[in-house]
Amino acid sequence: MRRLRLLAGLALLSGAGTQAQDLERGKLLYDTHCNECHYERVHQRLRSDIKDIGELREEVARRALETKRRTFSFDELDDIAEYLNASHYRFGAATGKKR
Ligand code: HEC
Repeated sequence: MRRLRLLAGLALLSGAGTQAQDLERGKLLYDTHCNECHYERVHQRLRSDIKDIGELREEVARRALETKRRTFSFDELDDIAEYLNASHYRFGAATGKKR
């Protein structure tokens, strides 16, 4: 329960158009498919090459190919990126636009 409330709070923080249920789905997808070979500490390191939400989306799409499932819909990739952004990267409003 507490985790749900945290995600709802993150949805508010990450602003425009992000739904708590998208974050919830992104988290579920991530926990199911992505955590098999790295722990979330991967996303907290200081020397991450990821500089904005566009790069985060690209990285998520690239990494998706390394999972056992391999195919994800655009929506699902988006939800995973939103989740990682809200939980770790915090690039501000996730407009999907590049610089
Ligand atoms: C086959 C193993 C594997 C799977 C499956 C995997 N990853 Fe990773 N991921 C890695 C490794 C290893 C690194 C660290 C690479 C490095 O040190 O540059 C990494 C790094 C990342 C990074 C970059 C972290 C940063 O800030 O520099 C992101 C984002 C990421 N993974 C997302 C995902 C997502 C999303 C999924 C599921 C769709 C996923 N990964 C599935 C192995 C995996």
